[in-house]
Amino acid sequence: MSHRVPIEPQRVDAPLTQSATFLVLSVTESPDAIRTVRKAVAGIDDLTKNVAIRDLSASFACTVGIGSDIWDRLTGLPRPTELHPFRTIKGGVHTAISTPGDVFFHIRSERRDLCFEFERQLMDMLGDAVAVVDVTVGFRYFDVRDVLGFVDGTANPVGAALPASVLIAEEENEVVAGGSYVVLQKYVHDLKAWQALPTEQQEAIIGRTKFDNVELDDAESGQKSHKTLNTIEDENGEEYDILRDNMPFGTPATGEFGTYFIGYSRRLWVIERMLERMFVGNPPGLHDRILDFSKPLTGTTFFVPSSSLLASLDSD
Ligand code: HEM
Repeated sequence: MSHRVPIEPQRVDAPLTQSATFLVLSVTESPDAIRTVRKAVAGIDDLTKNVAIRDLSASFACTVGIGSDIWDRLTGLPRPTELHPFRTIKGGVHTAISTPGDVFFHIRSERRDLCFEFERQLMDMLGDAVAVVDVTVGFRYFDVRDVLGFVDGTANPVGAALPASVLIAEEENEVVAGGSYVVLQKYVHDLKAWQALPTEQQEAIIGRTKFDNVELDDAESGQKSHKTLNTIEDENGEEYDILRDNMPFGTPATGEFGTYFIGYSRRLWVIERMLERMFVGNPPGLHDRILDFSKPLTGTTFFVPSSSLLASLDSD
């Protein structure tokens, strides 16, 4: 029997909310930067409580990710096996670019003001220890639709399948146990061109009907839909799910229409395989047609340690 303290994961499985802030920061060269960031991420539970208590019905949650380049200096711990910077994937037509990022905060709530308040208190703590790489505010759009008009998030794992897909098992080792990998890509869409497609073509690209969200078979031409390209199975037919909490963002007045892709997984290779299939195509050449209307502006990977591990970082 093990007598270890139970490992508490972060709130990776928090419900899909009405609002979210995706905050990607880099750690600066300021003399106390590492110490300040370590203190802030170790104290994230207290900061969360400060804000969450203001309205307990608003499902406030924040998860923290740590990037490959800062892992050693920030944690001083052995590296999670799969952790490395986002790898550029160059397809025949489209490229998944890789962009910088040391620390990531996924801030979620039913209420925009709670996300705002948390971001304010967090940035106060971090001060000149960080520089903002990207901050994107996402909103829920009708019945969980993306700005392309499709219901987004349907195939997410639920129940017991959720921790099994997302959290690294306790057996692995104490550093990674209860943790996940998270991959982010901020996409902008050519909405005019997308809207000019007949609905049937849009549905064939996604692999689901638009109105009632029913799964469709792929075309006989060999071109696979987005849904099929992102269905990953091993040689025994076992399927590997990831947990997505994509959010629309944008400003119609300036012509910006976006989807912020976020995927959590206990296995980084699963998300990388998805990206490979989308950008290179399966078979190669037959890339995901969603990319003809969607361009990634960023691409970053982080490790999301357990809450227990984060809290222990400032114990010295
Ligand atoms: C341009 C940005 C994207 C948009 C608008 C988008 C939208 C969608 C939609 C509408 C579905 C069908 C409903 C559902 O199951 O959620 C879907 C499925 C899915 N997408 Fe995306 N997606 C995007 C990017 C990505 C990326 C970059 C990945 C992975 C790296 C990904 C992985 C998945 C997976 C795993 C599924 C479920 C497949 C299944 O049925 O098992 N998506 N996406």
